[in-house]
Amino acid sequence: MLTLRILTSVTIAIAMLLAAAPHVHAQAGKKNPYDGDQGAIKTGMGLYRSRCADCHGIDAKGVRGPDLTQVWTSGRSDEGLFNTLRTGVIGTEMPAVGERTPDDEVWKILAYLRTLAAQTPEAGAKGNAQNGERVFRVQCQSCHRANGRGGRLGPDLSRVGVSRARPVLVRRIRGAVEESLSGFEPVTVTTKDGQTISGVTKNEDMYSVQIMDSRERIQGYLRSDVRAVEKGKQSAMPTFGPERLSENDLNDLLAYLATLKGFDPAVK
Ligand code: HEC
Ligand code: HEC
Repeated sequence: MLTLRILTSVTIAIAMLLAAAPHVHAQAGKKNPYDGDQGAIKTGMGLYRSRCADCHGIDAKGVRGPDLTQVWTSGRSDEGLFNTLRTGVIGTEMPAVGERTPDDEVWKILAYLRTLAAQTPEAGAKGNAQNGERVFRVQCQSCHRANGRGGRLGPDLSRVGVSRARPVLVRRIRGAVEESLSGFEPVTVTTKDGQTISGVTKNEDMYSVQIMDSRERIQGYLRSDVRAVEKGKQSAMPTFGPERLSENDLNDLLAYLATLKGFDPAVK
């Protein structure tokens, strides 16, 4: 009788352990089955270069999209990254890897990325986000929204700290603009009586152009009614050299932008 009871409680204990095991497993998350597999990594490299490098850079340090060499050190798991690739980030430029790409190819891309990953978290110059917010209000808010406040001549920056790599932001703010974002290309319209209106291009076709002027008024013009429509090379955003924005203020500004987790991308 006693032995039976002991046996029963042992059985129950084992059953509980077994029941708990899958749970523990699910929490640990699925690990990449291809980590360290040279053949898979090579396939992953090809897939990465053709499908991701345009936005994330050939070295994965970020161009139009964020730096991917820090995703693991920032605490993301293999499984979480797999899911991000599968769903994309809705409402942002980050596309989903389509259904036609089998799971094992997605894992291979991640196995390749893992070889580029940083081993330690970025030392990251730690700025003062509070001062950064002040700098933003003074220097940027007239043209940019963040947290639902600000101007509309430039794009909303509530997510830019998540979506762009730091060096890209620095270059952008300090002034090296190779190409204006679509919807924000600088334009100057000269009317027949010689007036000029400058702004950013919102829409255009063969016959007309719609611009937002510096006072955020949307104006439409028929090309036949004006003397000239000229696309400028100079972005509508001024450049912020060190005389206008000190190294410290820039650093604080970036710390502030990094604290913004953005508008909900799904409703962008
Ligand atoms: C058209 C540009 C574009 C392409 C192509 C693209 N991405 Fe992205 N990706 C982005 C942007 C922008 C974000 C940031 C989205 C946001 O605002 O959160 C992002 C985010 C990510 C994230 C999340 C990063 C984090 O910190 O959580 C991962 C991981 C990622 N991309 C991997 C990939 C991989 C792998 C590919 C190729 C299969 C790819 N991306 C293709 C633009 C792109
Ligand atoms: C006079 C208006 C104006 C001011 C002031 C201004 N910007 Fe901009 N900004 C723009 C416009 C317009 C664009 C988009 C045009 C382009 O890409 O050339 C832009 C683009 C940007 C981008 C690129 C966004 C992206 O998605 O890649 C960043 C980053 C940026 N601005 C940051 C700043 C910061 C930080 C400040 C303050 C220090 C600032 N801007 C001040 C008008 C402005």
